Amino acid sequence: MTIWEELTSKKPFFALAPMEDVTDTAFRQVILRAARPDVFFTEFMNVNGFCHPAGRTNVARRLKYQPSEQPIIAQVWGSDPEKFTETATELAKMGFAGIDINMGCPDKAVVRAGGGSALIKNPALAADIIAAIKASCSQPISVKTRLGYSSIDEWQAWPSHLLQQDLACLTVHLRTKKEMSKVPAHHELIPEIIKLRDELAPETKLVINGDIADRAAGNELAHKHPGIDGIMIGRGVFANPFCFEQTPQHHSREELIDLLVYHLDKFDEEKCRAASPKFDPLKRFFKIYINNFPGASDLRAKLMQAKNTTEVRDILDTWINQK
Ligand SMILES: Cc1cc2nc3c(=O)[nH]c(=O)nc-3n(C[C@H](O)[C@H](O)[C@H](O)COP(=O)(O)O)c2cc1C
Repeated sequence: MTIWEELTSKKPFFALAPMEDVTDTAFRQVILRAARPDVFFTEFMNVNGFCHPAGRTNVARRLKYQPSEQPIIAQVWGSDPEKFTETATELAKMGFAGIDINMGCPDKAVVRAGGGSALIKNPALAADIIAAIKASCSQPISVKTRLGYSSIDEWQAWPSHLLQQDLACLTVHLRTKKEMSKVPAHHELIPEIIKLRDELAPETKLVINGDIADRAAGNELAHKHPGIDGIMIGRGVFANPFCFEQTPQHHSREELIDLLVYHLDKFDEEKCRAASPKFDPLKRFFKIYINNFPGASDLRAKLMQAKNTTEVRDILDTWINQK
């Protein structure tokens, strides 16, 4: 049984979305502690970098994970089927529960390199990549994509094409590439997507993504559309790191500060960002934890001045002792 078939017993199962520079192993462990989803994804990793002797160390840091994060899916992007083959063989050895191909990223550099959403315009290459990766490992292969490239009217042809590639799972972010994240996700198209899946690939699990805030919202959507197998949540964790909890609870500022301290610990332990991890990217997380309580913005302003995790801990200690 593949991981996607196993997860279907929890229908709808919940996934934490891959988010570059956000969902590294440190942050995934934070989410695990707050309230766990059913499946994790790594940040996406470029197959060309991975296959290059000098590039591998840099990109492979994105593949770090702890056993507690299982089941975890490695997400990859690129445009050369051979590089996917080489990468998949290595990923299989690393114990990932599955491999997901990004065919939706709208980032200019990714599109210029022919990967991510550029594959929507090159369906033959997309099919070659899927076939190549499937032939090189026994891991279940999935794709995460968008509705289409430029126009919402053209959306059916692309998911139909993917559904004909015998995928274990298809995640659809309910926007086109052109829409970026600027318009509300097209939840109104869910019934048609389910119909397409049922007609073309009833065995392929369907995960819906886009503007789903938390488990309650995901359950409501799945209740309305029972054909949905899984729900993927991305930015919902920024507003509420406890968004995967079964029963929503109030979380005190002490709990949120504890979670930040846990994140600092994991950041120091995992050294996710490089051999000597750069501290500044961690600052973008402060708003997740230091928010929605009296004095939060003052405390956050102080934390933004910190130069390392020790200084963050000192500022938090001083602030707590003053209370
Ligand atoms: C900061 C950031 C980084 C992202 N990086 C990735 C990525 O590496 N791979 C991917 O498939 N999607 C990536 N995405 C898209 C998300 O996985 C998701 O599809 C999108 O945010 C919509 O879901 P949401 O409304 O639940 O956030 C990223 C999104 C954000 C905001």
